[in-house]
Order: sequence, then structure tokens, then C-alpha cells
Amino acid sequence: MTELNAIVESAQSAFAQAATPADLENAKAQYLGKAGKITELMKGMAALSVDEKKARGAAINVAKQAIEAALTARRQALADAELDAQLKAEALDVTLPGRQRGQGGLHPVSLTLERIEAIFGSMGFDVAQGPEIESDWFNFTALNTPEDHPARSMHDTFYVEGGSETAPNLLRTHTSPMQIRYAVQHVKQHRASVGATDGLYAGDMPEIRVIAPGRTYRVDSDATHSPMFHQCEGLWVGENVSFKDLKFVFTDFCRTFFESDDLVLRFRPSFFPFTEPSAEIDIQFQSGPLAGRWLEVAGSGQVHPNVIRNMGLDPEKFIGFAFGMGPDRLTMLRYGVNDLRLFFDGDVRFLSQFN
Ligand code: DAH
Repeated sequence: MTELNAIVESAQSAFAQAATPADLENAKAQYLGKAGKITELMKGMAALSVDEKKARGAAINVAKQAIEAALTARRQALADAELDAQLKAEALDVTLPGRQRGQGGLHPVSLTLERIEAIFGSMGFDVAQGPEIESDWFNFTALNTPEDHPARSMHDTFYVEGGSETAPNLLRTHTSPMQIRYAVQHVKQHRASVGATDGLYAGDMPEIRVIAPGRTYRVDSDATHSPMFHQCEGLWVGENVSFKDLKFVFTDFCRTFFESDDLVLRFRPSFFPFTEPSAEIDIQFQSGPLAGRWLEVAGSGQVHPNVIRNMGLDPEKFIGFAFGMGPDRLTMLRYGVNDLRLFFDGDVRFLSQFN
């Protein structure tokens, strides 16, 4: 039986040397295939006697089983090795930090505008938006601003194409034109609903209460001025709206905006063509880093009768106040930012601090 043992041993070592499944199948054919060594031995039994066949057949079978077992073991070992190699090649370092998606946030001035809208919204003010390219009529004339007013000068104003030669269109220099646009719309709609005829309207009408935030433009650029900046207009017109209401509303707004009752307001006489009387509104914090300084935050006043007329209303019946404030300035004061240009540089290191 040493012959059979030798065959088994040579099969085992041939299988062990097979480095790939294909090599292994080739090696298998040499032993178990049609012309393989074991098959040849079976064929060689034809001439033996019955008893010899039994003994010889049993021995060959033992050898065959040993070879098959070696084959199965080697197949498994090759498959395991292949899987190992694959796992190693595709290994993931699950301890690596993930790639994060950058999280955006609102611009500090947008945060301020949202705050302004929420506070005035809670006081019953509508929020209106209007065009940034404005006509001479809405930006100046309808607001009682005379033709020789310095704000119309080329030094202050970005004129653009369109309009007429004597009254070209421009990038709005303030949000005040929205006073006229909104009021005219309001009056027109109300007139239609009550079937009122032409002429200045003097009937009953729901009050106009609106703020109009947005971008404004002037030829101006330094640490506290930018050619593009923000304003927020406010307008309240009714039959019985007084300076007292302006003081109340604006004081309430400032205290809510800055989250401080430790704040006083000063209405300093001033001049604007579209209001009479006019006042600049200054605020003073009683505590904190800005304590004791008067800080200008808005222009304001009682709406001029000519402006009331340009809204389509009878100034004998309607009266109101308006204000225009600077959300950029309010943002600087709220967060302690000292250079306006930081807001418009688009530097994420600065902007990300507000979210
Ligand atoms: N429009 C003015 C400006 O740009 C600000 C202003 C002052 C608005 C008085 C008003 C107002 O509504 O009543 O400087």
C-alpha cells in the first residue's frame, strides 16, 4: 500500500502548492479526473479476482477519500485567503472623522432685519418690499424734496439709465420712496372698495402701518459708510397719530431690539424735506461698553402735508409719522462691531461668529 500512500502524499503536496483555485482544479484533474491516477488504478483492477478486487477497491477508496478531503481543505483555505485579501484591500478606518457638510447661517444684518420685522410685526406693522432702481418722482419729488436739494447731487447719488433727461432713474438713496408706493397702493385699494371718486381722499380708512426694509445706495465709502447699505422705513398714518405715538413705538422697539430697559431715547430737532417737524433719534445705553454715549439710530418726523397729498390723502384729515433707521448701524451696536465694511467683505471667519 505504500504506492497508494505515495499517491496521496503527492496529491496533498500538489494541492498545497496550488496558489489559485485554477491551479488547484488542474492538480485535482491529475488525481481524480478521467485520466487521473486514482481513475487509472480503478481501471487496473479489471484483471483481479473478486476477493482481490474487494481488498484493492477498499484501499483505493480510502486513498481517494483522503485526496478528496485534502482537496476540500485546500479549496476552503484558498477561498479564506481570497476573502482575507479582499477585506484587507477594502479596509475602512471607521475611526476617521466624517466629512462634514458646511452649515450656513444668516448674515448678521439679515438677523437684524428679521428682528426688526418681528418686533414691528407684533405691533401690527405690515412689511413691504420695493424696487432698488427708483424714479426721481418716488425718491425725491413725491417726498417734497426740492430740485436743488443736495441729496440729488451727482456726489451722492448713483444715477442709472431710464427715466427722463431732467429726472433720470437712480439707485434709491433711501427707503422713504416706499412710504409713497405703499400708501398710494393702500389708498387706491381702499378707494376701490368703497367706490370713492377722484381727488384727495378724506373718508374713513384703515390706518397705514408699514415698515419697508431693504438695500439703499449712495456714493460714500469709509469705515462707517458703504455704497450699499440698509435702511428700514417706518410709516404710520391715520386720523389721530401723533409724535407721542412715534415716541412710544420707537422706544418700545429699541428696548425690545437691544433687550434692555436700561436705554433712553432723545428726539433731537432736525430737518428732512418730507417731515415737519423732524427729529433725529439718538439712544443712550445706561450700562455696558457704550454707556453714556448718544448714538444716532434714525431720522423721523411728522409726515409733511405735501407728502400726505402725494399719497392721495387729504392732509386736513390724515396725519402720521415716519422714520428711517439704519439696520447696519443697529447691528454694529448690538454686536459691538466697529467697522461697517466687515459686513460686506464676505469673510466666513467673521460671519460665522453670528450663528
Ligand atoms: N430718508 C432719510 C435718510 O435717508 C431718513 C428718514 C428721516 C426717514 C426722516 C424718514 C423720516 O421716514 O421721517 O436720511
